[in-house]
Amino acid sequence: MKTKKFNNIELKESFDKIVNGNKKWVEEVAADTSGLFKELAKGQNPEILWIGCADSRVPANQVTSTLPGDIFVHRNIANMCNHTDMNMLSVLDYAVNVLKVKHVIVAGHYGCGGVAAALTNRQYGLIDNWLQHIKDVYRTHKVEIDNIADRTQKLNRLVELNVIEQVNNLCRTTIVQNAWKERDDLAIHGMVIDLATGEMIDLDVTTTSNEVLGEVFALVS
Ligand code: CO
Repeated sequence: MKTKKFNNIELKESFDKIVNGNKKWVEEVAADTSGLFKELAKGQNPEILWIGCADSRVPANQVTSTLPGDIFVHRNIANMCNHTDMNMLSVLDYAVNVLKVKHVIVAGHYGCGGVAAALTNRQYGLIDNWLQHIKDVYRTHKVEIDNIADRTQKLNRLVELNVIEQVNNLCRTTIVQNAWKERDDLAIHGMVIDLATGEMIDLDVTTTSNEVLGEVFALVS
């Protein structure tokens, strides 16, 4: 039975672009004799876990000029690390305890639609519940954010503070804290990508041990 896949030529064309793009990529990699596919088929051994925004403009591999196999990736709207998010926690646990990644990078970006939406009182629908976590970051840093007059600068700063809070969230998980009890080669980083230049800015909040967490947050077993 022949099924009619598309009822709209533009829909078909935009999908074909992806299918043809894959064919082109396979040819390019095959031509490059480095044996990448052979290596990838054996398994993965990435040193990086990337937790980034789902935004189409910040693909982990392209912005870091890395190859398939180099980065384990989790992305969601506004690069959040919420403690009840089983998806994020599962990725983190697998990356830290099975893949034994050395670096976890929370990567935000200026011009983040999720952060911008959180700094309004508009209803957007289901996502409003997700955005509450960003509004919590705003509430924590309300004085600083409210003191910035320029809207873009205000949003840029909230993007940075949101990344920093997500780094804190990761450090507070038992996954990361227990890993730090066993090894000293795990670093959690906060970075922001400037869409206008492509540059990745280090927010200088790299954390490598339980020592900085303080009471309540440093968990004992
Ligand atoms: Co974003």
